[in-house]
Amino acid sequence: MLVDTHGRVATDLRVSLTDRCNLRCTYCMPEEGLQWLAKPDLLTDDEIVRLIDIAVTSLGIEEVRFTGGEPLLRPGLVGIVERVAALAPRPRISLTTNGIGLKRTAAALKAAGLDRVNISLDTLRPDVFRTLTRRDRHKDVMEGLEAAHAAELTPVKVNAVLIPGLNEDEAPDLLAWAVEHDYQLRFIEQMPLDAQHGWKREGMVTAGDILAALRTRFELTPEGSRKRGSAPAERWIVDGGPHRVGVIASVTRPFCAACDRTRLTADGQIRTCLFAREETDLRAALRSGAPAEEISRIWRLAMRSKKAGAGLDDPSFLQPDRPMSAIGG
Ligand code: GTP
Ligand code: 5AD
Ligand code: SF4
Repeated sequence: MLVDTHGRVATDLRVSLTDRCNLRCTYCMPEEGLQWLAKPDLLTDDEIVRLIDIAVTSLGIEEVRFTGGEPLLRPGLVGIVERVAALAPRPRISLTTNGIGLKRTAAALKAAGLDRVNISLDTLRPDVFRTLTRRDRHKDVMEGLEAAHAAELTPVKVNAVLIPGLNEDEAPDLLAWAVEHDYQLRFIEQMPLDAQHGWKREGMVTAGDILAALRTRFELTPEGSRKRGSAPAERWIVDGGPHRVGVIASVTRPFCAACDRTRLTADGQIRTCLFAREETDLRAALRSGAPAEEISRIWRLAMRSKKAGAGLDDPSFLQPDRPMSAIGG
């Protein structure tokens, strides 16, 4: 088991498959992109599967989520999913993606064993999408969403970040659209994880703002904490049901006390928290031929440094060196 010193147990592993992305969301990275990881530094497909194997057989991991950057850019994704689905015990397998290219791969991913997807979409307006992501790919994302639903990668969850002056007025429209298409929408408070280090609390649309905007058009009833478990999203029943809407309020209502996560970056570093300031190198151990017991031991030990929480309210808070795109959300 992966236990930390605050009594939490990590059963959910998030694996970043690449730090690259085909969008340039303004709240994530600059137009020119970032200094990408070099190929030899990336874990190979075999190395990723080996680490996940160790995590599910010896460390109690029950759910594996693939993230990026943009994980659909990883050529071996379908094969990795297939091999992870063949592990015993078989973990639940999910993917967080911007949806571009999913139209082509949704069926193959489902056949390989992917259970469900979360897709990022911040706006219903193609022109706003172009401004926000600096790429004209709104149609690709919409087609990806439809393909995911058709392939039964369900529930299809949609992640939306609201940015003042760009799409902050879209919350009710997004919810009406999500209900109509049977997508489970979640709004995410913007976190200080952008590559430009430009995040400001005052410049963030809060959970309170979002709920107030939604309530102008919908009746929202809290789903209650019993159903939430360790999920980051608090959920509300929309207009009496059956649809739900979620808010991931990492900044104004942190949920760290229930955190059940551990993370692996594309270059093989364990991160115990999105906001951790230190990492533990598993790649070196792996490449020096360490046996599974040694890898497990290093991972267990790494979890002991997991902080009680993100610490966004501490005066001494410092944004981690790696941006979100290189951590894996
Ligand atoms: P499910 O609820 O299991 O579908 O997944 P999820 O919401 O945890 O995953 P997803 O990758 O869709 O992430 C949605 C948002 O939640 C992203 O902005 C993530 O950065 C954020 N998030 C995911 N895990 C954590 C976490 O452990 N802590 C914080 N603060 N935010 C997280
Ligand atoms: N704060 C909150 N969410 C973010 N995302 C990317 N950067 C940030 C940030 N700084 C979102 C993406 C995607 C999800 C994985 O995380 O929009 O939906
Ligand atoms: Fe877990 Fe860190 Fe996220 Fe809090 S901020 S929920 S401790 S990963």
